[in-house]
Amino acid sequence: MHIGVIGAGELGATLAEWCAESGHDVAVASRHPERLGNVVDHLGGHGAAMPVPEAVTFADVVLFAPNWETAPEAIELAGTTLDGKIVIDATNPTGTDLMGAPSGFEMLLRMAPRAHWAKALNTLSTDVLQRRRGHDPLLAEFVCTDLSDARRAASMVIRDMGFAPYYAGGVEAAWLTETGGPLQQTEVDVFHAKDALAEALMTTPHGDLRGR
Ligand SMILES: NC(=O)c1ccc[n+]([C@@H]2O[C@H](COP(=O)([O-])OP(=O)(O)OC[C@H]3O[C@@H](n4cnc5c(N)ncnc54)[C@H](OP(=O)(O)O)[C@@H]3O)[C@@H](O)[C@H]2O)c1
Repeated sequence: MHIGVIGAGELGATLAEWCAESGHDVAVASRHPERLGNVVDHLGGHGAAMPVPEAVTFADVVLFAPNWETAPEAIELAGTTLDGKIVIDATNPTGTDLMGAPSGFEMLLRMAPRAHWAKALNTLSTDVLQRRRGHDPLLAEFVCTDLSDARRAASMVIRDMGFAPYYAGGVEAAWLTETGGPLQQTEVDVFHAKDALAEALMTTPHGDLRGR
Protein backbone atom coordinates (compact mmCIF):
# COMPACT_ATOMS: atom_id res chain seq x y z
CA MET A 1 0.00 0.00 0.00
CA HIS A 2 0.94 3.64 -0.28
CA ILE A 3 1.14 5.33 3.12
CA GLY A 4 1.37 9.10 3.54
CA VAL A 5 2.68 10.39 6.86
CA ILE A 6 1.78 13.99 7.71
CA GLY A 7 4.16 15.15 10.40
CA ALA A 8 7.41 13.19 10.33
CA GLY A 9 8.72 13.94 13.82
CA GLU A 10 9.21 11.60 16.78
CA LEU A 11 6.03 9.60 16.15
CA GLY A 12 5.52 10.07 12.41
CA ALA A 13 9.10 9.17 11.44
CA THR A 14 8.99 6.07 13.65
CA LEU A 15 5.70 4.87 12.18
CA ALA A 16 6.94 5.68 8.66
CA GLU A 17 9.98 3.48 9.22
CA TRP A 18 7.87 0.56 10.44
CA CYS A 19 5.47 0.93 7.51
CA ALA A 20 8.40 0.84 5.07
CA GLU A 21 9.84 -2.17 6.88
CA SER A 22 6.59 -4.03 6.42
CA GLY A 23 6.72 -3.43 2.66
CA HIS A 24 4.60 -0.32 2.20
CA ASP A 25 5.70 2.61 0.07
CA VAL A 26 5.83 5.72 2.23
CA ALA A 27 5.64 9.45 1.59
CA VAL A 28 6.66 11.57 4.57
CA ALA A 29 5.46 15.16 4.73
CA SER A 30 5.89 18.22 6.87
CA ARG A 31 5.89 21.96 6.32
CA HIS A 32 9.58 21.55 5.44
CA PRO A 33 9.95 18.31 3.44
CA GLU A 34 13.42 19.40 2.34
CA ARG A 35 14.53 18.82 5.95
CA LEU A 36 13.36 15.19 6.02
CA GLY A 37 16.42 13.64 4.33
CA ASN A 38 17.39 11.84 7.52
CA VAL A 39 13.91 10.36 7.88
CA VAL A 40 13.92 9.19 4.26
CA ASP A 41 17.33 7.56 4.82
CA HIS A 42 15.65 5.23 7.33
CA LEU A 43 12.97 4.11 4.88
CA GLY A 44 15.23 1.64 3.09
CA GLY A 45 14.47 2.84 -0.41
CA HIS A 46 10.70 2.58 0.18
CA GLY A 47 10.08 6.27 0.79
CA ALA A 48 10.34 9.88 -0.23
CA ALA A 49 9.68 13.29 1.29
CA MET A 50 6.94 15.42 -0.22
CA PRO A 51 4.85 18.50 0.53
CA VAL A 52 1.62 17.66 2.39
CA PRO A 53 -0.85 17.68 -0.55
CA GLU A 54 1.40 15.51 -2.70
CA ALA A 55 1.87 12.98 0.12
CA VAL A 56 -1.90 12.77 0.68
CA THR A 57 -2.54 12.36 -3.04
CA PHE A 58 0.09 9.60 -3.17
CA ALA A 59 -1.42 7.76 -0.20
CA ASP A 60 -4.04 5.04 0.11
CA VAL A 61 -3.89 5.64 3.86
CA VAL A 62 -2.67 8.74 5.67
CA LEU A 63 -1.08 8.67 9.14
CA PHE A 64 -1.77 12.06 10.70
CA ALA A 65 0.91 13.00 13.24
CA PRO A 66 1.66 16.74 13.30
CA ASN A 67 1.80 18.68 16.55
CA TRP A 68 -1.69 19.34 17.89
CA GLU A 69 -1.27 23.11 17.75
CA THR A 70 -0.48 23.03 14.02
CA ALA A 71 -2.90 20.24 13.05
CA PRO A 72 -5.40 22.74 11.57
CA GLU A 73 -2.62 24.13 9.39
CA ALA A 74 -1.78 20.60 8.20
CA ILE A 75 -5.42 20.03 7.25
CA GLU A 76 -5.48 23.36 5.47
CA LEU A 77 -2.31 22.47 3.55
CA ALA A 78 -3.83 19.13 2.49
CA GLY A 79 -7.04 20.84 1.38
CA THR A 80 -9.33 18.83 -0.85
CA THR A 81 -6.74 16.06 -1.29
CA LEU A 82 -8.16 14.67 1.97
CA ASP A 83 -11.62 14.16 0.46
CA GLY A 84 -12.47 10.45 0.55
CA LYS A 85 -9.04 9.56 1.97
CA ILE A 86 -8.59 7.23 4.94
CA VAL A 87 -6.80 9.20 7.67
CA ILE A 88 -5.54 7.73 10.93
CA ASP A 89 -5.32 10.46 13.55
CA ALA A 90 -2.50 9.82 16.02
CA THR A 91 -2.52 13.28 17.63
CA ASN A 92 -3.27 14.14 21.22
CA PRO A 93 -4.94 17.46 21.91
CA THR A 94 -3.33 19.90 24.29
CA GLY A 95 -5.00 22.82 25.99
CA THR A 96 -8.53 21.49 25.50
CA ASP A 97 -11.11 20.76 28.18
CA LEU A 98 -11.34 16.99 28.51
CA MET A 99 -14.87 17.04 29.86
CA GLY A 100 -16.14 19.54 27.36
CA ALA A 101 -17.20 18.58 23.86
CA PRO A 102 -15.70 18.09 21.38
CA SER A 103 -12.72 15.73 21.59
CA GLY A 104 -9.61 16.45 19.54
CA PHE A 105 -10.71 13.80 17.09
CA GLU A 106 -14.15 15.38 16.69
CA MET A 107 -12.51 18.74 16.07
CA LEU A 108 -10.38 17.31 13.26
CA LEU A 109 -13.40 15.56 11.74
CA ARG A 110 -15.18 18.89 11.54
CA MET A 111 -12.19 20.46 9.80
CA ALA A 112 -12.06 17.73 7.13
CA PRO A 113 -15.50 16.09 7.12
CA ARG A 114 -14.99 14.31 3.79
CA ALA A 115 -11.98 12.33 4.98
CA HIS A 116 -12.57 8.84 6.39
CA TRP A 117 -11.09 9.23 9.86
CA ALA A 118 -9.97 6.68 12.42
CA LYS A 119 -8.30 7.44 15.74
CA ALA A 120 -5.37 5.17 16.58
CA LEU A 121 -1.68 4.99 17.47
CA ASN A 122 -1.99 7.96 19.84
CA THR A 123 -2.06 6.38 23.30
CA LEU A 124 1.56 5.26 23.80
CA SER A 125 5.00 6.81 23.43
CA THR A 126 7.39 5.64 20.75
CA ASP A 127 9.59 4.22 23.54
CA VAL A 128 6.82 1.87 24.63
CA LEU A 129 5.89 1.02 21.05
CA GLN A 130 9.52 0.27 20.23
CA ARG A 131 9.92 -1.98 23.28
CA ARG A 132 6.72 -3.94 22.68
CA ARG A 133 6.61 -4.07 18.90
CA GLY A 134 6.24 -7.58 17.52
CA HIS A 135 6.50 -9.28 20.92
CA ASP A 136 3.91 -11.81 22.01
CA PRO A 137 1.42 -11.23 23.43
CA LEU A 138 1.00 -8.33 21.05
CA LEU A 139 0.46 -4.85 22.42
CA ALA A 140 -3.11 -3.61 21.90
CA GLU A 141 -3.60 -0.46 19.84
CA PHE A 142 -7.05 1.05 20.35
CA VAL A 143 -8.96 2.07 17.22
CA CYS A 144 -12.01 4.37 17.18
CA THR A 145 -14.03 5.16 14.08
CA ASP A 146 -17.55 5.04 12.69
CA LEU A 147 -16.39 3.87 9.28
CA SER A 148 -15.71 0.28 8.29
CA ASP A 149 -13.13 1.12 5.60
CA ALA A 150 -11.16 3.29 8.03
CA ARG A 151 -11.38 0.57 10.70
CA ARG A 152 -10.15 -2.07 8.25
CA ALA A 153 -7.26 0.07 7.02
CA ALA A 154 -6.17 1.17 10.50
CA SER A 155 -6.30 -2.44 11.71
CA MET A 156 -4.20 -3.59 8.79
CA VAL A 157 -1.53 -0.93 9.24
CA ILE A 158 -1.38 -1.61 12.99
CA ARG A 159 -1.03 -5.36 12.40
CA ASP A 160 1.66 -4.83 9.77
CA MET A 161 3.66 -2.73 12.24
CA GLY A 162 3.61 -5.52 14.82
CA PHE A 163 0.72 -4.61 17.13
CA ALA A 164 -2.83 -5.86 17.70
CA PRO A 165 -5.67 -3.53 16.72
CA TYR A 166 -8.49 -3.38 19.28
CA TYR A 167 -11.72 -1.64 18.36
CA ALA A 168 -12.75 0.71 21.19
CA GLY A 169 -15.85 2.24 19.59
CA GLY A 170 -17.00 5.01 17.30
CA VAL A 171 -16.07 8.67 17.11
CA GLU A 172 -17.72 9.33 20.48
CA ALA A 173 -15.23 6.95 22.17
CA ALA A 174 -12.07 8.63 20.88
CA TRP A 175 -11.73 10.96 23.87
CA LEU A 176 -11.10 7.88 26.04
CA THR A 177 -7.76 7.47 24.23
CA GLU A 178 -6.73 11.13 24.17
CA THR A 179 -4.86 13.34 26.62
CA GLY A 180 -6.36 12.86 30.10
CA GLY A 181 -8.61 10.02 28.92
CA PRO A 182 -8.55 6.68 30.79
CA LEU A 183 -6.95 4.78 27.89
CA GLN A 184 -4.15 7.29 27.32
CA GLN A 185 -0.82 5.65 28.30
CA THR A 186 -2.61 2.33 28.84
CA GLU A 187 -0.12 -0.37 27.96
CA VAL A 188 -2.03 -3.64 27.67
CA ASP A 189 -1.69 -6.70 25.51
CA VAL A 190 -4.51 -7.79 23.28
CA PHE A 191 -5.82 -10.31 25.83
CA HIS A 192 -6.34 -7.57 28.43
CA ALA A 193 -7.64 -4.87 26.10
CA LYS A 194 -11.28 -5.80 26.70
CA ASP A 195 -10.89 -5.40 30.47
CA ALA A 196 -9.03 -2.11 30.05
CA LEU A 197 -11.80 -0.75 27.82
CA ALA A 198 -14.52 -1.95 30.22
CA GLU A 199 -12.72 -0.25 33.11
CA ALA A 200 -12.34 2.96 31.08
CA LEU A 201 -16.04 2.94 30.25
CA MET A 202 -16.92 2.44 33.91
CA THR A 203 -15.25 5.76 34.69
CA THR A 204 -18.01 7.47 32.68
CA PRO A 205 -21.65 7.68 33.71
CA HIS A 206 -23.91 5.17 31.96
CA GLY A 207 -24.90 6.20 28.47
CA ASP A 208 -22.72 9.27 28.40
CA LEU A 209 -19.30 8.61 26.90
CA ARG A 210 -18.20 12.21 27.40
CA GLY A 211 -18.49 11.85 31.18
CA ARG A 212 -20.86 14.77 31.57
N1 LIG B 1 6.09 11.28 20.27
C1 LIG B 1 5.33 10.28 20.70
O1 LIG B 1 5.82 9.29 21.31
C2 LIG B 1 3.84 10.30 20.44
C3 LIG B 1 3.08 9.18 20.78
C4 LIG B 1 1.70 9.19 20.55
C5 LIG B 1 1.11 10.32 20.00
N2 LIG B 1 1.88 11.41 19.69
C6 LIG B 1 1.22 12.58 19.09
O2 LIG B 1 1.71 12.75 17.79
C7 LIG B 1 1.77 14.14 17.46
C8 LIG B 1 3.19 14.47 17.02
O3 LIG B 1 4.06 14.25 18.11
P1 LIG B 1 5.64 14.15 17.91
O4 LIG B 1 6.21 13.88 19.24
O5 LIG B 1 5.95 13.26 16.78
O6 LIG B 1 5.99 15.67 17.50
P2 LIG B 1 7.31 16.22 16.78
O7 LIG B 1 8.47 15.34 17.03
O8 LIG B 1 7.41 17.66 17.19
O9 LIG B 1 6.97 16.13 15.23
C9 LIG B 1 5.95 16.87 14.63
C10 LIG B 1 6.11 16.79 13.13
O10 LIG B 1 4.97 17.41 12.53
C11 LIG B 1 5.43 18.32 11.52
N3 LIG B 1 4.42 19.35 11.41
C12 LIG B 1 4.08 20.29 12.32
N4 LIG B 1 3.11 21.06 11.85
C13 LIG B 1 2.81 20.59 10.60
C14 LIG B 1 1.89 20.99 9.62
N5 LIG B 1 1.08 22.04 9.79
N6 LIG B 1 1.85 20.29 8.47
C15 LIG B 1 2.66 19.23 8.28
N7 LIG B 1 3.56 18.81 9.18
C16 LIG B 1 3.64 19.51 10.33
C17 LIG B 1 6.80 18.80 12.04
O11 LIG B 1 7.63 19.29 11.01
P3 LIG B 1 7.63 20.84 10.56
O12 LIG B 1 7.63 21.67 11.81
O13 LIG B 1 8.89 20.95 9.75
O14 LIG B 1 6.41 21.03 9.74
C18 LIG B 1 7.35 17.48 12.58
O15 LIG B 1 7.87 16.71 11.52
C19 LIG B 1 1.32 14.89 18.70
O16 LIG B 1 -0.04 15.24 18.60
C20 LIG B 1 1.54 13.88 19.82
O17 LIG B 1 0.64 14.07 20.90
C21 LIG B 1 3.22 11.43 19.90
